[in-house]
Amino acid sequence: MIPASKIAEINNAARVEEVVGEYVNLKKRGSNLIGICPFHDEKTPSFSVSPAKGIYKCFGCGKAGNPVNFIMDIEQLGYIDALKFLAEKYRIEWPKQEQTPEQITEEKRRQDERERLQIVNNFAERYFEDVLWNDDEGKLIGLSYFEERGFRPETIKKFKLGFAKDSWDHFTNAATGAGHNLELLINGGLVKRNDENNKTYDAYRNRVMFTIHSISGKPIAFAGRYLVKDVKSPKYVNSPETVLYHKSNELYGLFFAKQSISKNNLVYLVEGYTDVITLHQAGIENVVASSGTSLTEGQIKLLKRFTENVCVLYDGDAAGIKASLRGTDMLLEAGLNVKIVLFPDGEDPDSYCQKVGGEQFGNYLSDAKQDFVLFKTNLLMQDVGNDPVKRAECIKEVVNSISKIPDVFKRSVFLHEAAKILNTDEQLLINEANKNVRDNNKKQPVDQQQLATINRLEAQEQLLNVAEELKNNDIQEKDLLRVILNYGSKPYNENFTTVASYIFHELNAEDVILTHPIVSKVINEILEKLQDPLYEISTADFINHSDPLVTVLVADVLAAEPEISPNWSKKIDEIIEPIGHNYKQDVDSCLIRLQLRNIDRLIEENRKVIADEEQNGNIDQVEIHTEVHMHLIKKRADLAHKTLTTILK
Ligand code: GTP
Ligand code: MN
Repeated sequence: MIPASKIAEINNAARVEEVVGEYVNLKKRGSNLIGICPFHDEKTPSFSVSPAKGIYKCFGCGKAGNPVNFIMDIEQLGYIDALKFLAEKYRIEWPKQEQTPEQITEEKRRQDERERLQIVNNFAERYFEDVLWNDDEGKLIGLSYFEERGFRPETIKKFKLGFAKDSWDHFTNAATGAGHNLELLINGGLVKRNDENNKTYDAYRNRVMFTIHSISGKPIAFAGRYLVKDVKSPKYVNSPETVLYHKSNELYGLFFAKQSISKNNLVYLVEGYTDVITLHQAGIENVVASSGTSLTEGQIKLLKRFTENVCVLYDGDAAGIKASLRGTDMLLEAGLNVKIVLFPDGEDPDSYCQKVGGEQFGNYLSDAKQDFVLFKTNLLMQDVGNDPVKRAECIKEVVNSISKIPDVFKRSVFLHEAAKILNTDEQLLINEANKNVRDNNKKQPVDQQQLATINRLEAQEQLLNVAEELKNNDIQEKDLLRVILNYGSKPYNENFTTVASYIFHELNAEDVILTHPIVSKVINEILEKLQDPLYEISTADFINHSDPLVTVLVADVLAAEPEISPNWSKKIDEIIEPIGHNYKQDVDSCLIRLQLRNIDRLIEENRKVIADEEQNGNIDQVEIHTEVHMHLIKKRADLAHKTLTTILK
């Protein structure tokens, strides 16, 4: 068990805007921050963060919670691991503890392996750096190589570049000597084992080393570049997929770039490690690399958290450009605005930037930047000549691309421009595009749904299920919780010193039964705490409750305060004072709505009884229950009237 004081310490340290801000590009709006929700696909931001309350809520998909809930969801960690994650982030010491039974689960095992591998990778990163800077071979070969490429010492240090010696076991010995487990080194791809003779050897030999960092800056993989061209071995040797490293979900340089991407609202996409580093050194920091392969959906999703604007920097040759057109189409499909820059033949961003210098390179980027769709249209048109078949194919291909743009307005602008370039009738293109869009829509929702289901299953089931449940559940009970948490300890009247005592009295008197499991849990807890006459109800106690299901609910409830929705508060303003000033009315109308719901339930149950008794021919019973029905209806009418006067009062 983690001591409650430790949990409190972590909760106090974790600022919701900082934790969420590592994953979502947040912009200020009023007293809140808003951004694109990382949990569902959306184009306009409905993800709101309240630094004052310490909570987030997505008004699109309903996800809500405190920083711990956020980490559970986004990193797919259990409660304890999410706390640990935050403890690490905020440098809070984690208590040593024995294993409890529920920790020995598969997830736990994986988590352990992640942690152990992280420690190994931390070691390897330091080792390769140490060799580069301090070892004679490292200095002579590695460091001078980087210097020759124009990397300055501070750049080399920033990107944690390193060197692997020309040796079969220097790294293995250093690592095992420092106490690292050989199997783990093999799992992490740092050491290899020959299946035939069972001998082990260093995976990286005589290579300059690039560290691949996670979005939060941890070394999760490595790439080693050869120094002399060697037909036998590949130019780069890379880490395999591990528990820490899923190639298709990482972008090289994102950790160093993310702030600049947000600030500039633009990301440059390049191919190689050295392109990223050189551009950084030249002051262009919003740049990431796909590491040679074509972009994956995971990588695009990652980018989308930070910006909608992507500029792809293509290496010179035409064949290469054509090959990567499809990958670029995926960017359009994701709703991103895509620009491209081409470089003179034989140059890549790295070589060109080194050649002309940072300032001129920056100018080149702005001058040579063109829209991707129009670029593609022009490019395809070049090959058409007078061949009508080729021309038809070209038109089809262009329209296909444009049809993938989700935004209908953008689509129409592009169709207009493309018609001009293709010298064809715009209406023709529009018809063709509309047909594509309809076809795509027919196909897509299923895939999307399947994807969503898979994601959901993989994610924190418990949390998600409850989030689902909370969304559909009783608004009246949730509203009751909102009222108690917000105003519970405020004065009510001469008979009831506090709002809470009034509410509990009313609930008792009216026999209101709470059915929402977590609402009743929280309410019972409040009741218990109120045994202490000095206790004051505070929202913070529950926003940072030790049960993550409670924190999700409480965040949901508190974020849903009417003041958050501009329309709602405007409507309310016209009738009564703002809710906060008029909390007694808020309390009263909440109670009345709860009672109304209670009566509706009773009426419904009674109706069933009447129907049954009628069927059985028990006229007496029918009469009695009809009377009950009349009584309930009257009571309901009274209550409804009271509601109206409460709201209008
Ligand atoms: P320099 O040639 O030193 O400029 O390196 P570079 O990183 O620019 O390499 P290049 O332009 O040839 O390749 C672009 C990217 O593709 C690299 O950064 C790597 O991520 C990837 N890549 C290139 N060659 C290989 C290889 O042999 N194996 C693997 N796994 N990746 C490679
Ligand atoms: Mn290169």
